Amino acid sequence: MNAPAATAPLLQLQNVESAYGPIKAIRGVSLAVHAGEIATVLGSNGAGKTTILKTISGIIDPLKGSVHFKGENITANDPTAIVRRGLMHVPEGREVFALLSVRDNLMMGAYTRGDRDAVARDLEQVHAYFPILKERGHQDAGLLSGGQQQMLAISRALMAAPELILLDEPSLGLSPRLTKEIFEIVVRINRERGTTMLLVEQNANMALNAADFGYVLENGRIVMEGACEVLREKEDIKEFYLGMKGDGVRGERRWKKKKNWR
Ligand SMILES: Nc1ncnc2c1ncn2[C@@H]1O[C@H](COP(=O)(O)OP(=O)(O)O)[C@@H](O)[C@H]1O
Ligand SMILES: [Mg+2]
Repeated sequence: MNAPAATAPLLQLQNVESAYGPIKAIRGVSLAVHAGEIATVLGSNGAGKTTILKTISGIIDPLKGSVHFKGENITANDPTAIVRRGLMHVPEGREVFALLSVRDNLMMGAYTRGDRDAVARDLEQVHAYFPILKERGHQDAGLLSGGQQQMLAISRALMAAPELILLDEPSLGLSPRLTKEIFEIVVRINRERGTTMLLVEQNANMALNAADFGYVLENGRIVMEGACEVLREKEDIKEFYLGMKGDGVRGERRWKKKKNWR
């Protein structure tokens, strides 16, 4: 691989605009995710995080802009074709197959793969990350707790051996302890398997600790970006997203008063 190709982002969005009928959900979003990193998009409820992920994975076709993955234009491609290229989406609310066993859910992730030995090795690795999925292998996935279903959803994506995983709010509805556990394993997966991740979260604290590079999304626009270690130290982020000064409501009021806070 020559030098410019090596530095090209694995995933790149340029000026992407997506809408639901007349409602514009994201407006001119540009972002890049580099191979091997964990990138995060932070934003409160309704900011447009899920819409970004759905646009990347082909569930929603954008009105404008482009999505490139591994240097290829995948804008508005069929979702199945995008999965085959090595991009898996773990949706908000997990969406496991409730009536299938845990093990069958995991094997569904690998259905496009022919390399049976490698699939068996990946199953072992997934069981090592989340031993509960091995213990509960024969139970219906619908019987798992919310946290265990999140583990299953991430693991099912891993079973496809993807290059990039899109993770939509893995912390949603989980206890702080479980959230921490899941984030630690997400980081381990990234470090050990080299799987690139794009994580969208309202839980800025967790996301900024786990990720390398972050974007802040407000009302469908990216308003700030930077290395997570830099974002963590920004006063506005501390105040509004990390709740480190006053209560959330007061923080939000102060935040909204500042028009040129960038
Ligand atoms: N299916 C839909 N139909 C109409 N509007 C939607 C739909 N899904 C999301 N929206 C709107 O698009 C905006 C962005 O939503 P979303 O991407 O789900 O935000 P987030 O994931 O950050 O909470 C919100 O204003 C939301 O109400
Ligand atoms: Mg969402």
